[in-house]
Amino acid sequence: MKKLALTLSLLISGANLTAGEKVASPDGGIIVDFNLSPSGRPTYSVSFQGEEIVRPSGLGFLLKDATPMIDGFRVDSITRASVDDIWKPVWGENTEIADSYRSMTVHMTQPLSSGEARRLDVEFRAYDDGAALRYIFPSQAASELVIADELTEMAMGGDYTAWWIPGDYDTQEYEYTRSHLSEIRAHSDKRHMANVSQSIFSPTGVQTSLMLKTPSGKYLNLHEAALVDYPAMHLNLNDSTMTFVSWLTPSPDGTKAVVKTPFRTPWRVVMASEKATGILASNIIYNLNDPCAIDDTSWIKPVKYMGVWWEMITGKSTWSYCDAENFDLATFDYSKAVPHGRHGANNENVRRYIDFASENGMDQLLIEGWNIGWEDWFGKQKDYVFDFVTPYPDFDIEGLNEYAHSKGIRLMMHHETSGSVPNYERHIDRAYDLMNHHGYNAVKSGYVGKFLPDGQNHYSQWAVRHYLDAVKRAADKKIMVNAHEAVRPTGLARTYPNLIGNESAMGTEYQNMSPAHVTILPFTRLKGGPMDFTPGIFKMDFSTFAPGNHEHKRATVANQLALYLTMYSPLQMAADLPEHYAEKMDAFQFIKDVPVDWSESRYIDAEPGEFIIVARKDKNSDNWFAGGVANADGHSADLSLGFLDPAAEYEATIYADAPDAHYDSNPEAYVITRRKVTQADTIPVCMAPGGGFAVSFRKL
Ligand code: NOJ
Ligand code: CA
Repeated sequence: MKKLALTLSLLISGANLTAGEKVASPDGGIIVDFNLSPSGRPTYSVSFQGEEIVRPSGLGFLLKDATPMIDGFRVDSITRASVDDIWKPVWGENTEIADSYRSMTVHMTQPLSSGEARRLDVEFRAYDDGAALRYIFPSQAASELVIADELTEMAMGGDYTAWWIPGDYDTQEYEYTRSHLSEIRAHSDKRHMANVSQSIFSPTGVQTSLMLKTPSGKYLNLHEAALVDYPAMHLNLNDSTMTFVSWLTPSPDGTKAVVKTPFRTPWRVVMASEKATGILASNIIYNLNDPCAIDDTSWIKPVKYMGVWWEMITGKSTWSYCDAENFDLATFDYSKAVPHGRHGANNENVRRYIDFASENGMDQLLIEGWNIGWEDWFGKQKDYVFDFVTPYPDFDIEGLNEYAHSKGIRLMMHHETSGSVPNYERHIDRAYDLMNHHGYNAVKSGYVGKFLPDGQNHYSQWAVRHYLDAVKRAADKKIMVNAHEAVRPTGLARTYPNLIGNESAMGTEYQNMSPAHVTILPFTRLKGGPMDFTPGIFKMDFSTFAPGNHEHKRATVANQLALYLTMYSPLQMAADLPEHYAEKMDAFQFIKDVPVDWSESRYIDAEPGEFIIVARKDKNSDNWFAGGVANADGHSADLSLGFLDPAAEYEATIYADAPDAHYDSNPEAYVITRRKVTQADTIPVCMAPGGGFAVSFRKL
């Protein structure tokens, strides 16, 4: 369908704006109402299916050493547009995405006592699945504005239930808490964890995407879209009025952002649905981002990969090559070093992984700890941590790449910055060139630890610029990026689809998080873009192979299989060790079969924190896949196969929890059955506590 945009301009004066101006979504379910307060402050409210979900809420900014842009505004004109479009993502949950909205842009002037006048526009969009607003600073006399604070309010319609993680300038690696908004303050004891880069700013601060449920049973979600050249937004709750106020991540001098006019801020978004599955299926965040900026995207391909990684995470082997005291990368002589014998990324071990990964249909193999510097990298604020180009003496970069390519797979690059962004920026071009030279086309980057330069936060304007710059430079060199510990995504992968993954949440490397976690992430973190969650753990007791590691995966094998469906990503890892898969090749078959790109996705049923069930159709065949995950209570359902092609018969292979499976006491018990099915059939599924199920439907 072609884009149909109808634009109308309506000239009105501030004095005429007494009853407010509204914009309604195509189906009329979402209505955004704009008004000026008696003091001339721009305000808005949002209703969904007749219920006020955002009560009248103020807009505006505090500026450094200048009159606040809060009140004294007059409305000059209002522009309206209507868009009904369909676009095709390079990779995704569906081949096509519908983008239909009605918008209203309010053009305002703020006369100052100096005689000058400032200009500010606010663009509102009403979609059927939510509302969004962004500020636009048109070109004006003040070519630069120093934003001391953005004061966008979102006044909630009640004491909603929330699934939240604490506001933090540096990390999202937390488990979620479910509580009423009024109870957030009381949970401060849950906010402390052993993370080197934790920085919490308020007892009622939370991060987005924030999942909410109203007492009437509606599902809401607050997030931002298209975070470009601006700090990431947290939300700080005034818990006497249930009003969130935007809380931007500061720069070292305490200001929030410096913007050059003309400038558009990111979108502030409230998603809304009568059903939990509506939040999972919503594409509003991608729709609010700009179309693809890369002309030739033929080199961007979804990736299924294994890694020389889990063995380091669990402590079976190490990233480092030797032990070294008073280590200095600039002067250390590896040729004289005595290896400690536990280095994971050694030639022999890497070849073993290459063999297994290529025999089992993987696209790539990640290798961490391939480069010098891991002797002294963690939790330090060191400028020169890694050079990103020099391999360890026992890692033959040339030979191993040739070996991988001869077996039909690629190696995946790893760049851990250890938070020293200036050092990474100094080396990034050479590091990408090295990748091009050896035939790597994907990099996993990482930002562990407190940032250098000192005082910069992971989510500041400066850091946000860095992450996108790294993605754009990578695109120039046809490199796909999967950044860990970077700012949480806001749909930028629509514009830069070489951003095929991010971590930006608590992933499998936190080996034993609660079973509920994976029933919440698709409602929160995944709303901004895919996560490199690294599923597929089959050996749940780590002490059996990593002596001294007494952690335990709190999930069943069937749950781990289902994650390839419930945690949508074009980049999926089979995270466990080859020898653990070799013990359960019947279950591993599902990981071999499951696609990483889809033509159609249907969220069948879900409740945040409890369970998620989804069905997806392969983009490159007629096969369907379905799966579900459950929290510690388990979940049973009858899976009706109405999504299958009515004219066809399928062979269903069902990977289920064994009747006595349990995430804690019996996590590795599963049962695989096969049967012929049609669209008229129903499959009963019984997910164990912390369990799940996965089904592949092969069209006959
Ligand atoms: C943290 C990342 O999330 C993890 O996947 C990686 O292995 C380590 N940093 C080391 O870079
Ligand atoms: Ca991490």
